[in-house]
Amino acid sequence: MTKSLVASDIQKHFGGVRALRGVSITLAEGRVIGLIGPNGSGKSTLLNVIAGVERPTSGEVVLDGQRIDRLPPHRIVSLGIAKTHQIPRPFPGMSLQENVAVAAMYGSQRFELDEARETASRVLGLVGLGQMAETYAGRLTVQDRKRLELARALATGARILLLDEVFAGLSSDELRQSIELFAKLQKKIGFGALVVEHVMRAVLTLSDHVVVIEEGKKIAEGAPDRVVRDPAVIEAYLGVEAARAPA
Ligand SMILES: Nc1ncnc2c1ncn2[C@@H]1O[C@H](COP(=O)(O)OP(=O)(O)OP(=O)(O)O)[C@@H](O)[C@H]1O
Ligand SMILES: [Mg+2]
Repeated sequence: MTKSLVASDIQKHFGGVRALRGVSITLAEGRVIGLIGPNGSGKSTLLNVIAGVERPTSGEVVLDGQRIDRLPPHRIVSLGIAKTHQIPRPFPGMSLQENVAVAAMYGSQRFELDEARETASRVLGLVGLGQMAETYAGRLTVQDRKRLELARALATGARILLLDEVFAGLSSDELRQSIELFAKLQKKIGFGALVVEHVMRAVLTLSDHVVVIEEGKKIAEGAPDRVVRDPAVIEAYLGVEAARAPA
């Protein structure tokens, strides 16, 4: 069987708010899908449903043929899916190494303390934070917090990463470095990823395939360069006038 993550016809209602109105997405092993859409379109909600943080109102999520949408978040992590938070929430009074070691202990390999520490050191090195292993997480810059989020997700041993705006709020140089880092890690480790992002440069560079949602529904998908020229996508982002304007 081909390894894949398939979310089918996902609906998620919060009271009267229909955050997701029947979204389907398929992520094949080792592929990177960019998920874009205006503010409030349901991107984070879709990641939360896949990660088990939110239960879908209807629809199903299947990993390698196994239904996972009724499982609690820690079981989903143990099956190899890890999500970063849109707003990083490290333990500020703990060192970077401790922060990452905790993720390794609760990840898919369930490491004991010593192995978790070793994994933490290795993964911090991979994301370029090796020199800062003893620094308190509360002292990090925005860019380094995002790197720490990535390190925590990787330390769980995940083969599918759900990344919620890990490229937001960075300077142009930091963005370039972060894109290079992601591309290098993805090539080296071969994880699949669902990347939610407003920063188009990141989406277009990193994704094999882009899915666009608006008001909880998929409005377009395809190759990155094609999707950004789609009039429906331009309209969703920039308004009707921009979509009508000549290229
Ligand atoms: N826990 C919740 N309770 C109630 N409403 C929620 C909850 N989470 C999300 N929503 C609503 O669902 C809709 C989709 O929100 P979501 O956070 O998924 O959007 P998003 O695409 O990630 O937006 P952004 O780009 O601003 O991060 C919004 O209307 C939001 O207010
Ligand atoms: Mg969001």
